[in-house]
Amino acid sequence: MSVSYGRFTFGKLVAVLKGAAILAIKADSAGRLGRISGTLKVRNKGELVVGRNVSFYAKQFPSSISVAKGAKLRIGNNVFFNYGLDIGCTKSIHIGDDTIIGPMVNLIDTNFHPVDRDDRSMSKPIFVGANVWIGRGVVILPGVTIGNNSVIAAGSVVTRDIPANVLAGGTPAKAIRELNVSDDWIRRTK
Ligand SMILES: CC(C)(COP(=O)(O)OP(=O)(O)OC[C@H]1O[C@@H](n2cnc3c(N)ncnc32)[C@H](O)[C@@H]1OP(=O)(O)O)[C@@H](O)C(=O)NCCC(=O)NCCS
Repeated sequence: MSVSYGRFTFGKLVAVLKGAAILAIKADSAGRLGRISGTLKVRNKGELVVGRNVSFYAKQFPSSISVAKGAKLRIGNNVFFNYGLDIGCTKSIHIGDDTIIGPMVNLIDTNFHPVDRDDRSMSKPIFVGANVWIGRGVVILPGVTIGNNSVIAAGSVVTRDIPANVLAGGTPAKAIRELNVSDDWIRRTK
């Protein structure tokens, strides 16, 4: 389709409408959505709650959200997701208000397979606080809590809790330094 008006093409309009409609239909509750572009696949057999002004930019690579039966995914207000997102929620994932999720980020609250015969804890909830910035290519593993305002550097694998107000990075991710933030400061502009 090549109909265009200035820089806004008909294709873009369809993508925005399609993505927004699919998310709104598949969610149990959704606030007024922000911008959705590209391909966002949503499979919801549990509970999906999406806040106000949540945006998905899924152009270079598609994004995928999967919520299993009995699981709960809660996305706060004013959250931005970059492309290549992969959320696998089998128990509980919470993403706080004003959080920014970089490209190719993976949040999974289950290991899907037991490590050995003694492994009884494949699924554990993930909690990402408010005003957090998750860098490109980060993997957040089951059972992790990330405190408010913290930043997870690109390419990190987060295996243990990260406190509030720190830059953390590496594999496994560790706090690197304290951040200069205040309660009223929000990284993502609205
Ligand atoms: C988060 C980020 C911006 C931090 O930058 P910064 O505050 O300037 O940090 P610095 O470069 O001063 O590094 C501080 C320390 O963290 C380490 N560090 C930085 N990035 C790291 C990473 N990705 N993994 C592991 N350690 C990292 C540095 O080596 C340095 O350690 P040192 O003091 O022992 O030398 C940067 O790490 C990053 O991830 N950038 C990519 C952001 C991104 O993904 N953007 C996509 C769009 S959302």
